[in-house]
Amino acid sequence: MTTTPHTARTGGEFVARHLGPDADGLAHILETIDVSSLDELAERAFPSVILDEVGPDGRAAGIDALPEPLSEADTLAALRVLADQNEVAISMIGQGYYDTLTPAVIRRNVVESPAWYTGYTPYQPEISQGRLEALLNFQTMVADLTGMDMANASMLDEGTAAAEAMTMLRRANRSSKSPRFAVDTDVFGQTAAILATRAEPLGIEIVTANLIDDGLPEGDFFGALVQTPGASGRVADVAGLIDQCHDRGVLVAAGVDLLAATVLTPAGEKGADACFGSSQRFGVPMGFGGPHAGFLACRTAHARNLPGRLVGVSTDADGRPAYRLALQTREQHIRRDKATSNICTAQVLLAVVAAMYASYHGAEGLAAIARRVHSHAAVLADGLVAAGVQVVHADFFDTVLARVPGRATEVLAAAAERGVNLWKVDDDHVSVSCDEATTGDHLALVLEAFGGSVADIADAGQLEILVDPAYGDRTSSFLQHEAFVRYRTETAMLRYLRALADKDLALDRTMIPLGSCTMKLNATTEMEPITWPEFAGLHPFAPVEQTRGIRRLVGDVEQWLVDITGYAAVSLQPNAGSQGEYAGLLAIRQYHRSRGDEDRRVCLIPSSAHGTNAASAVMAGMKVVVVGCRPNGDVDVDDLREKVDRHAAELSAIMITYPSTHGVYEHDIEEICAIVHDAGGQVYIDGANLNALVGVARPGRFGGDVSHLNLHKTFCIPHGGGGPGVGPVAVAEHLREFLPGHPYEEGLGSGAVVSAAAFGSASILPITWAYVRMMGADGLRRATLTAIASANYLARRIGQHFPVLYSGDGGWVAHECILDFRPLIDSVGISIDDVAKRLADYGFHAPTMSFPVPNTLMVEPTESEDLAELDAFCDAMAAIRAEIDRVAAGEWTVEDNPLRGAPHTAESVSADEWEHAYPRSLAGYPLGSTWRPKVWPAVRRIDGAYGDRNLVCSCPPLEAFAED
Ligand SMILES: Cc1ncc(COP(=O)(O)O)c(C=O)c1O
Repeated sequence: MTTTPHTARTGGEFVARHLGPDADGLAHILETIDVSSLDELAERAFPSVILDEVGPDGRAAGIDALPEPLSEADTLAALRVLADQNEVAISMIGQGYYDTLTPAVIRRNVVESPAWYTGYTPYQPEISQGRLEALLNFQTMVADLTGMDMANASMLDEGTAAAEAMTMLRRANRSSKSPRFAVDTDVFGQTAAILATRAEPLGIEIVTANLIDDGLPEGDFFGALVQTPGASGRVADVAGLIDQCHDRGVLVAAGVDLLAATVLTPAGEKGADACFGSSQRFGVPMGFGGPHAGFLACRTAHARNLPGRLVGVSTDADGRPAYRLALQTREQHIRRDKATSNICTAQVLLAVVAAMYASYHGAEGLAAIARRVHSHAAVLADGLVAAGVQVVHADFFDTVLARVPGRATEVLAAAAERGVNLWKVDDDHVSVSCDEATTGDHLALVLEAFGGSVADIADAGQLEILVDPAYGDRTSSFLQHEAFVRYRTETAMLRYLRALADKDLALDRTMIPLGSCTMKLNATTEMEPITWPEFAGLHPFAPVEQTRGIRRLVGDVEQWLVDITGYAAVSLQPNAGSQGEYAGLLAIRQYHRSRGDEDRRVCLIPSSAHGTNAASAVMAGMKVVVVGCRPNGDVDVDDLREKVDRHAAELSAIMITYPSTHGVYEHDIEEICAIVHDAGGQVYIDGANLNALVGVARPGRFGGDVSHLNLHKTFCIPHGGGGPGVGPVAVAEHLREFLPGHPYEEGLGSGAVVSAAAFGSASILPITWAYVRMMGADGLRRATLTAIASANYLARRIGQHFPVLYSGDGGWVAHECILDFRPLIDSVGISIDDVAKRLADYGFHAPTMSFPVPNTLMVEPTESEDLAELDAFCDAMAAIRAEIDRVAAGEWTVEDNPLRGAPHTAESVSADEWEHAYPRSLAGYPLGSTWRPKVWPAVRRIDGAYGDRNLVCSCPPLEAFAED
């Protein structure tokens, strides 16, 4: 008798795990939408001009070059081979990336927990209280440690945080007309490079000078930037410089190391107007460069200029404190080209890790780590001096700068032989950074590499470090809130993480039909490798020979994305879609300039575009001209022609999303591209919706010159509650040379540096690698078509209750559809919020609300949801329609009905008092108690406006939660 192993090692078996509908389910879906097969769907739903040819083997052109699919087990084995080609040395490189000991309870219950990593950005705060609280802890932690009033909920990395600080100061300093910004020489190289990138298109003139020693140079400046400890390790007192700047009307941003700030007076307490940095060394592995949570903190006066997401405290319908995103009117999704920045996806998961790390260690624990780190550095410095090596700075925290005339390369090689990586500053200087993982043995190896020995230190016993409890000059207290006091035992932390996760609706409990977000399966096999030390433990500037495996993986992903998109080259550096847009637009800008077309600055953007498009264009020095849409949602080609004619000489590019943000494959796409090309412009195709194209059509072949992709949508990187993301930029041959470069990486493009690390958030690329490797060409094409079939199924079923706003020729939608509530809102008086919040009572996360059309819901089911889940969602929507009809019929008033009262908490429906016209059972269990596992929202409807009027962006005192 032969048996089939439970997990067969046959290539392609994962496809059936990834796709939701089984054969019967798919047959039902196809029958409902009136097609006989997925291939027929492709022919009918797509404009024929963009369709790729499919060979007899069912593989589409381009992706037929992808390798044969592997099983889950073989994929992990193949990743293991790549991992083993990396060599994780003892990293003492520093430069913004430090080894850290991630508490296992946090790694297992946050990084490896789908409840945390599969959530989306907390747009629906009533079902996101867990991660909102964690982010508020992050904000409190950053504000406390930097000595600032408030901080945002994370930036993409330290370099981009510095750049955002620069532009924030420019907005904030209304009294200065100067375009000049002074930057100290002792900042990390990658930070300086990103500042230069961001400054140039905006007309900011960077003046680099030794601000710490020489003060602010002559002349006018709107701002200045310093970093302490500096890249050289030097700890400088910046108080005098800040005073001098303020006396001259100049605002100051300071780079702060959070660990150092536990013992050294932070720049915020010395008067800085903004503080930026990275929280990486708070428990987040270096990961060959990312992802990590950058941060930006400021004075309250600058709150409305602060870019990025900001969590604030408000109240719910019962008057209880509740968290939600604050001041959203600053953000790109509302202010578009006038936004404070283009940041959208940030680094939520990593911010959660850093905040929990701080909670777990508490103020004393962190300070103890900081003192141990410093003591190691101090012992090392003594050892070096004893060995006759000059130590350049007397004041340092964790990094010792050694002067070794002409010997730097030799010292580095000697250290590498001993398994230690150091940083070569120049031929004469080497720097050595200590961190949480440093041991006395490491120091002994380093001393040997410099030609010294442990014996050089008078008391060799010092290597088992005598921590100086008095080290540091910080006197102010920090992290005294309960959130940083209560969870010091593993039991307490475990329960805290679980309690928070239980408040959130993530993909582990329900489909999340957020249109334009592609909330699809993040398979465990894809996720497993990211915490392997061979990927997680690599410093981004580690020698090439130690990082061969991750570099092969990067090369594979680049090549596969080239195959899939039809472009010539890809850069993985951008660490979010918005950064990919920015990198792509900069490439276009450089291309025009290289041809002497300095004046081509107009970027055409359809009115339906995602807010990041307009915000990125402005950051790239472009002028946004909006192109209208027709009543059917398509780009208005006549308006486009008119705008192209009007701006022909200055036309730089069009940014168009395909399929459109209206969820439709526009038939005019080829014509649109041709009109722009004929006028000398470039075509940027926003590839955030690539999940509706993979294996069926390639943007690089149907007219695009450049696209960004969102690997955190199409290619299975989980959204992490609002990040991390990866936003590769893909370009046609003529733009290849303008792909992002990096100061510490050879062989990249000559383009501007957009992220701190050469390959961005490299440590999460195994997810995409595994997905493509397990799906293969055929599986990817099936995924795309299944997603489209499911979206059309929902459009047909829910369309019976709420009209589908836009569809293409033949009535087909792409991978998502927009449900129009405007007629009901006008006639019945319910609001789009009512519907979204009521869905939470049914156990569903609301679809995307009011984007791109106000008072609509945009639904995207993805290919990973099975028929039962799709049907349950349709049933919920049908039931909500019936509820609206009862309001319309006058059975309930507009003020008192289950929609307006939503969401209902367990507490509210079990309260002794119940004054509503509808029954409690309907409030809590609208389709009965056995319909779906009940998930109770943690709070009732939140008053957003109250929170914006009474801005509180750090942890409220516990009394706020007490019963009256
Ligand atoms: C169409 C579109 N473009 C761009 C973006 C920006 O991507 P990210 O959030 O990764 O910055 C998004 C994100 O939702 C999007 O939907």
